[in-house]
Amino acid sequence: MNARIAVIPGDGIGREVIAEATRVLQALGGLALEPLPWSADHYLKTGITIPAGGYDTLRSFDAILVGALGDPRVPDNRHARDILLGTRFELDLYVNFRPVRLLDDRLCPLKNRTRRDVNFVVFRENTEGLYVGAGGRMRPDTDQEIAIQEEVNTYLGVHRIVRHAFDFAIAQGLRKVCMADKSNAMTHGHALWQRVFKELAPKYPMIEATHLYIDALAMLLVQSPDQFEVIVTNNLFGDIITDIGGALQGGLGMAASGNIHPGRTSMFEPVHGSAPPLAGKNIANPIGAILSAALMLDSLGRADDARRVERAVEEAVHTGETTRDIGGPLGTREAGAAILRRLR
Ligand SMILES: NC(=O)c1ccc[n+]([C@@H]2O[C@H](COP(=O)([O-])OP(=O)(O)OC[C@H]3O[C@@H](n4cnc5c(N)ncnc54)[C@H](O)[C@@H]3O)[C@@H](O)[C@H]2O)c1
Repeated sequence: MNARIAVIPGDGIGREVIAEATRVLQALGGLALEPLPWSADHYLKTGITIPAGGYDTLRSFDAILVGALGDPRVPDNRHARDILLGTRFELDLYVNFRPVRLLDDRLCPLKNRTRRDVNFVVFRENTEGLYVGAGGRMRPDTDQEIAIQEEVNTYLGVHRIVRHAFDFAIAQGLRKVCMADKSNAMTHGHALWQRVFKELAPKYPMIEATHLYIDALAMLLVQSPDQFEVIVTNNLFGDIITDIGGALQGGLGMAASGNIHPGRTSMFEPVHGSAPPLAGKNIANPIGAILSAALMLDSLGRADDARRVERAVEEAVHTGETTRDIGGPLGTREAGAAILRRLR
């Protein structure tokens, strides 16, 4: 039976890159792709961000593929909050999986670094932290304004993401897991991360478990990315350091991600946003979206197809048949077509 995939292209370049990812998935076959119109346009037309029962609709699919959400016409980004963050929270997609792998030496912005040096994964906690929306504003828009944004860390939430990082390392034959927090300054919430990490590390004696403060990690990702294999951190820090990861891969257009609850409907999306200045110009790099589709294939048990897609992307990158952000001469559609040709 065909796996059913909900496809939410969303806004801006999200629509263009998802068109290319969709073509790749259609070429592989065995998938029923069902587009959903949820986006800024849809919200501005109907007043609806995600319809009643929308999260249940999403749960009924085998997986979800998203482009990007964000539009200057919706200044408070309400639709993106409901569609993207809402799905992460409502479907309890607690693992944000972001592989950082350099596909071609020439794309690395660091001096004398090669593919061997940039190959690690980041697990970002995806349902807690500073992104739960706890807090409030008193006397908004006055000189007396007080704004509070609270960070939520639960034992269950921290435990399951740290455990997932260790289990992934074991399953992949990796040896190193680094946990990053800011426990020197955030002495309540991040003391919990310390406690959980110290509790779990001894259960994985074959793994070298290390800790870094997030600011030191940011520096080391640039100075010596080769020392990392698996990184686990919270929602905000993971968001930020995976943009550094995107840069190490050649740019945000290259970076893929999965929002995962193991064994349940999960959501896959490029790391980048809707990039309004690029939208509608056929210049966005579709690789992050196509590699996100490959992560989705992996989650559907189609590892062979996932590797085929990755190989096709790598070949297109090596031969320079890419968009301009990574040095090629092609537009979004043509770069997508080059990957598709190699797949066939
Ligand atoms: N997951 C998401 O849907 C997501 C993630 C980040 C930002 N956003 C939203 O997207 C909007 C724009 O945010 P932003 O400008 O901070 O981030 P962005 O990722 O959209 O773009 C930042 C810059 O990165 C580069 N870039 C990103 N994707 C690219 C691609 N595929 N090809 C080539 N270059 C690419 C461009 O130079 C772009 O100007 C905002 O509304 C924001 O809230 C959404």
